[in-house]
Amino acid sequence: TDPALIRNFCIIAHIDHGKSTLADRMLQLTGIVEERQMRAQYLDRMDIERERGITIKSQAVRMPWSPTSEDGTATPHILNMIDTPGHVDFTYEVSRSLAACEGCILLVDAAQGIEAQTLANLYLAMENDLTIIPVLNKIDLPAAQPDKFAAELAHLIGCEPEDVLRVSAKTGEGVGELLDEVVRLVPAPVGVKDAPARAMIFDSVYDAYRGVVTYVKVVDGELGRRERIRMMSTNAAHELLEIGTNSPEMTAADGLGVGEVGYLITGVKDVRQSKVGDTITQFHKGATEALPGYKDPKPMVFSGLYPLDGSDYPELRDALDKLQLNDAALVYEPETSAALGFGFRVGFLGLLHLEVIRERLEREFGLDLIATAPNVVYRVVMEDRTEHTVTNPSEFPTGKVDEVHEPVVRATLLAPSEFIGAIMELCQTRRGNLQGMDYLSEDRVELRYTLPLAEIVFDFFDALKSKTRGYASLDYEPTGEQSADLVKVDILLHGDKVDAFSAIVHKDKAYAYGVRMAGKLRELIPRQQFEVPIQAAVGSRIIARETVRAIRKDVLAKCYGGDISRKRKLLEKQKEGKKRMKVVGRVEVPQEAFIAALSSD
Ligand code: GTP
Repeated sequence: TDPALIRNFCIIAHIDHGKSTLADRMLQLTGIVEERQMRAQYLDRMDIERERGITIKSQAVRMPWSPTSEDGTATPHILNMIDTPGHVDFTYEVSRSLAACEGCILLVDAAQGIEAQTLANLYLAMENDLTIIPVLNKIDLPAAQPDKFAAELAHLIGCEPEDVLRVSAKTGEGVGELLDEVVRLVPAPVGVKDAPARAMIFDSVYDAYRGVVTYVKVVDGELGRRERIRMMSTNAAHELLEIGTNSPEMTAADGLGVGEVGYLITGVKDVRQSKVGDTITQFHKGATEALPGYKDPKPMVFSGLYPLDGSDYPELRDALDKLQLNDAALVYEPETSAALGFGFRVGFLGLLHLEVIRERLEREFGLDLIATAPNVVYRVVMEDRTEHTVTNPSEFPTGKVDEVHEPVVRATLLAPSEFIGAIMELCQTRRGNLQGMDYLSEDRVELRYTLPLAEIVFDFFDALKSKTRGYASLDYEPTGEQSADLVKVDILLHGDKVDAFSAIVHKDKAYAYGVRMAGKLRELIPRQQFEVPIQAAVGSRIIARETVRAIRKDVLAKCYGGDISRKRKLLEKQKEGKKRMKVVGRVEVPQEAFIAALSSD
């Protein structure tokens, strides 16, 4: 295909602003999905995506479109629509999808207006120099305020309010005109036809039947069927078993040329061999310089996952192995905890990623899990200049610590202006730094903060929602690290450390954490035959103490007289209970107590 007739674009939108619905309409209007085959959200294929209504994995679809020009002639064009994952955790994947496009549709719900995610994605699109087409969706809704939000959008991206298109993805109104505008406004891809091939991987998904399916955009040259290719980040060689385009089902082709978007299959079985952001070239006489922007996916949040029933450990390992085939960002290694037994320390891109993986483990693999409170990755520099990377608080080094570095994020918060005070107060208590503030319109404001990631990981989103009656939206992306006054707080039961409760917190919050955990545990731990002190400590210094008082544990004391069957029943029950007990040092703790203490509230 002549690159001049290709348009590569994506749709960026806040959750629920109608991206999938608009994509559906486009598939229908361009005729590649027939009416009767149409099902809602054609492109979201994973069950969990459908259920939660979120798009996790991006895909690309090729659609023919002949725009009606002013003189009445129609030139057939090819539109490649690249679906981007919507959530913050997947920012890196979003940015790679954007890099495969020359333009994007900025889709905003005409009843809601701009949200934080719209902004975060818009900034990414601007960084990638994309042509931006502002569009208001859901104009069929009675609550729509298209004039108000067109003005807001125009103000934001610096265009005229009349330039903001208005569509209804539900009824299809305005969608044809939108496709015409895509052809008119989005630049055609440019690349060097006679150069060695360079194709950028913007997605890679595992398919049980076909192995890994890799989605690419060819920037320079051409890739053909049966060619030997090389992954430039690893130098690994593969043979191209199949190459083709999606429209919307996979259709094999002889090759892909400059500006084209499609898929390829090499027979690798693991997405980590075909990484998002990597450059593919020919094995022989290939390119020497990779396309810019490759980054290894880096886990930002860690949590210990333990099977509730210790004998499920092998199943948990198998399940993680399976999930990793399709998720290059998921990392894990075995870990043992005195309190929780055998499990894994698992690394995630962010909280949603954690939640999705945990839910898949429980739902698709039928596992019951205990998860420790999520923590971020710390870089600890000792006085002798040695460095430790800490992904598990209980492994915080002992000895002379010079500096502790923690990851920070750039957060974008958006809310009605009446909540500015509440948001500032919240960010203040979470060690945030205000970077800037802008009014999007008279009554809506955007606040930009840098915040420690660790402070967001702990229920920040819930706190924000409750302080703003659900009106604020939040997005963030990692921006580096800072050194901070952080200490490890340990929780001791009868003098023994309970590893699962160790936490790294800011010095000013150590006391509050210690008091809260000790208090929680006192309520949850049953009385034993001896007195059990519960202590919180920073190093060897005790900062909080509670006591579970001793009791003579005579369950039969209540049974006066000779009701032997009742006695037996009580003894049975006690035995049952024992099985679910974990022993920490000399103290028996019911598993439920750990779970309750670990649950964040
Ligand atoms: P994520 O995949 O979660 O990012 O959401 P999305 O942006 O893809 O939104 P989706 O297409 O799932 O639409 C969200 C809801 O809005 C659905 O209930 C749609 O039926 C509805 N919706 C989408 N477009 C329109 C529209 O033009 N008018 C009306 N009335 N409803 C719409």
